[in-house]
Amino acid sequence: MASAVKWDMESTSTNPPAFDQASLIRRYPQQPLRNQVAVVTGANSGIGEGVVRHMAAAGAAVVVNYVVHPEAAQAIVDDIVHAGGKAIAIEADVTSEDQVVEMFKQTVQTFGTVDIAVPNTGLQRDSRFEEMTLDQWNFVIAVNLTGQFLCAREAVREFLRRGPRPEISSATGKIIHMSSVHEFIPWAGHVNYGASKGGVMMLMKSLAQEVADRKIRVNSIGPGAIKTPINTAAWATPEAEHKLLDLIPYNRVGIADDIGRAAVWLASDDSDYITGQTLMVDGGMTLMEGFATGG
Ligand code: BGC
Repeated sequence: MASAVKWDMESTSTNPPAFDQASLIRRYPQQPLRNQVAVVTGANSGIGEGVVRHMAAAGAAVVVNYVVHPEAAQAIVDDIVHAGGKAIAIEADVTSEDQVVEMFKQTVQTFGTVDIAVPNTGLQRDSRFEEMTLDQWNFVIAVNLTGQFLCAREAVREFLRRGPRPEISSATGKIIHMSSVHEFIPWAGHVNYGASKGGVMMLMKSLAQEVADRKIRVNSIGPGAIKTPINTAAWATPEAEHKLLDLIPYNRVGIADDIGRAAVWLASDDSDYITGQTLMVDGGMTLMEGFATGG
């Protein structure tokens, strides 16, 4: 069991409204991911929860991966199953090669294969640069970058083992890396995090180039400020939210639902000709609002 203290984020008590799985399903009458299997890491809270719930609602059988708070993962599984979907929770620390390999093995044993992988687990350990410890650097790189490598590698191995199933999806497999606007926007005080997301960008693009001829699509989502436990301090009070909105041209802070919808589209055949791209889902944060009146 991973140490909860090491992994824990801030309290989840200020989270935005809970999902209603039954009404999510009504948003996907065409069931674009039916008969597919999706593994989403870090799926027991925040963006991962949004992605896994949307993918389940769109017809996929899903793995709700977690490393701490099994009860949160189980509650999501119960909700999905209760609404008529297929889901299991699997504990695995994405920084552990053995545990990631085991998670994919268990997924294949349970659901037969994997069609979609979303290496999503991510965290921050913020510090002024001169005070940043090697542990803070190493932990963020291990979770946010090495964890994505390990999950993507097991996914690619399974896609190649299984081969094409054109009746299920035009692509043999789809990987959606969870990046950030900070693969593009530098972020003082968060050098470890920025470096990890810059790394995810080139992991994604290089991998996309390498496996495209085998019909595997690899893309990223770059979320902006999304209301999740990772950034509660940035939106939990009206003053903080007001300040945050200065960075967001569209003038609203995102929610996990925004990312879930984008992830379903990127995993579906509706985006079949897209690979090697980061889809920024950020209310325009990467448009650099300061330049609206300056420069
Ligand atoms: C970070 C959040 C931040 C957002 C926009 C995300 O990648 O994890 O803490 O609010 O980027 O800056």
